[in-house]
Amino acid sequence: MFDAERMRDDFPVLGRSSEGPNLVYLDVASDALRPQVVVDAVAHAHAWGTAGAHRASHTLALRATEAYERARARVASFLNADCDEVVFVRSATDALNSVASGFAAHWLGAGDEVVLTELEHHSNTLPWRRAAQRAGARLVVVGCAELAADGSAAFVRHLSPKTRLVTFTHVSNVLGVRLNVAEIVSCVRKHAPSAAVVVDGAQAAGHMPVDVKALDCDFYAFSSHKCYGPEGIGVLWGRRELLARMEPPQLGGGMVSSVEATSMRMREAPHRFEAGTPNVAGALGLEAALNYLSQTNREAVAAHEAALVQYADRALCAVPGVQVLGQARDRTSVLSFVMTGVHAHDLSTVADAHGVAIRAGQHCAEPLLRSLGLSATARLSVGLYSTHADIDALAAAMRHAADLLR
Ligand SMILES: Cc1ncc(COP(=O)(O)O)c(C=O)c1O
Repeated sequence: MFDAERMRDDFPVLGRSSEGPNLVYLDVASDALRPQVVVDAVAHAHAWGTAGAHRASHTLALRATEAYERARARVASFLNADCDEVVFVRSATDALNSVASGFAAHWLGAGDEVVLTELEHHSNTLPWRRAAQRAGARLVVVGCAELAADGSAAFVRHLSPKTRLVTFTHVSNVLGVRLNVAEIVSCVRKHAPSAAVVVDGAQAAGHMPVDVKALDCDFYAFSSHKCYGPEGIGVLWGRRELLARMEPPQLGGGMVSSVEATSMRMREAPHRFEAGTPNVAGALGLEAALNYLSQTNREAVAAHEAALVQYADRALCAVPGVQVLGQARDRTSVLSFVMTGVHAHDLSTVADAHGVAIRAGQHCAEPLLRSLGLSATARLSVGLYSTHADIDALAAAMRHAADLLR
């Protein structure tokens, strides 16, 4: 049995701050809290390793380079990938934009189709919209109702030899549903053999094991700060042969091996995608977060989170006027709900007055909200430190909101 209560001690804001014991943090999907080991790793990097990696040849700089590359190796083993396929970026948004501008811009041509779903976060919609527009390609959207009804098979009717790129979220940041990546990729390989597959793993990597070889996708993106690591760093994993066809989104120091008056020679991946001074402290913070995650039984954590969300579904459905969105099947660590006659922002305000942090709004997924006929939802999201008591506190706050506002 996974013991979430014990994990709370690892998180300074939960275990040791004055509000710790009473703080109910159910907004992990926006930003996961950081354990002390991550805080220490970042602080240590700033205190002792301030030299830029891949720059000077003095001791501090060499140490920074070694540490930065060790962090890359950690990410690679976390994803079951090779080091030269792991690119440090600023965030999932940065990773997805890099693929859209550096890869899709050349990969797509006039008349091609880009398939994506209605579940996508704006970060996995807008970059493709622009790339398709520029190439004269067409966006094809798999609706959330057909996904709910048919699962991976919903993709099949949208795939054709014209499909050149397929992209989708591993886990929806609004409905919490998990898509079966390996199954979808296998449909793509069969029905659209020349398409590349890009997966937005922002809501998955911190909550379940990710093995890019088993998933068989071509690109995978995630952010450190949703995996208990620091903000300002994220990861783009790309298949070696496709990274070789991708242009660096930025040019500058560190990504070239030589520069002549009128020409330049770029370094190999991943360095050619990392122009400018690398975020060493961020990489070391992410390394610490992945080490921390890897010490847990990840399957047990995922089961704990899914069970909590199921418990939340039952507890919230018992509150007058509450409707939980989406199907319970395949729901992971996120759940959205609405209350008839009460705006989601008011639910969040009442929750906050009870010391419960949830998120309210469109969650950067306006097309999905539109298709659900909603302007906003209230959303809870859990992590490895979340407990049944957290859900009970939210349900009590929502009962109060129903009494007060309906
Ligand atoms: C599914 C999904 N994709 C992409 C993103 C963008 O992540 P970031 O803001 O860390 O770049 C988010 C953030 O909430 C998300 O939930």
